[in-house]
Amino acid sequence: MGILGFYRKEELKLNQKEATHAFGNLTAPSTTGIAIIHGLDYEGLSEEEKDEAISHGILVSNLAYSIAKELKLSKKTCEELAEAGIVHDIGKLKLGEYLYGRELETLKIEEMKYIRLHPSLGAEILKEHRCHSKEVLTSIYHHHENFDGSGYPDNLSGKEIPYGARILRVCDVFAALVTERPYRSSFEIDTAIELMIDEVKNFDMEIFLAFLRFVHSKEFEPIRDYVIYVNDNTMTKPAV
Ligand SMILES: [Fe+2]
Ligand SMILES: [Fe+2]
Repeated sequence: MGILGFYRKEELKLNQKEATHAFGNLTAPSTTGIAIIHGLDYEGLSEEEKDEAISHGILVSNLAYSIAKELKLSKKTCEELAEAGIVHDIGKLKLGEYLYGRELETLKIEEMKYIRLHPSLGAEILKEHRCHSKEVLTSIYHHHENFDGSGYPDNLSGKEIPYGARILRVCDVFAALVTERPYRSSFEIDTAIELMIDEVKNFDMEIFLAFLRFVHSKEFEPIRDYVIYVNDNTMTKPAV
């Protein structure tokens, strides 16, 4: 891989709903991210896990693009965040044996240590593909830093955290809360927002307010629709 954007929708193996969302805001480099995930060949990594990573990536990507737009960032930055959103958790796919197949069980402390490796692993994997800019890689590397300094991998706080990573943090927490997880059910959108307000110390307030404006706007409707679709789809999957 290396030449950007020469993927047709059919090659990305997306269904209609995903294709609409993936191609709504996303540019050629974002579709490259989907192709990279499909092409991963780690031992024990299933197609289903890749599909879940892509669904989650599409959601974070659309949110990140929209919030960047709400914050009136440049078109280039909006597109970079859309790109980063798709592949921000790619590092988790390399950690499969520690993280997957744990139906209805909260992740244990030991496993948390491995989870914490995924942002740096993700940046490494993507560096090898040489398809993403330094800004994209930096946003991915820091997407679990919390504004109060309690995040990882580097315990950065406040404005030390790259701006793109601060945007991804808000989008990622919301995306995780509103979708089904192996160890818990999804939360309603309003409940998810309440939970985020309780933990607002984790977020950059300017970004969080832009996120709230977006979630309460008409432009959010396609994303609400996509969340419902993702959850319906997850629930119909057989328990493994
Ligand atoms: Fe993550
Ligand atoms: Fe994530």
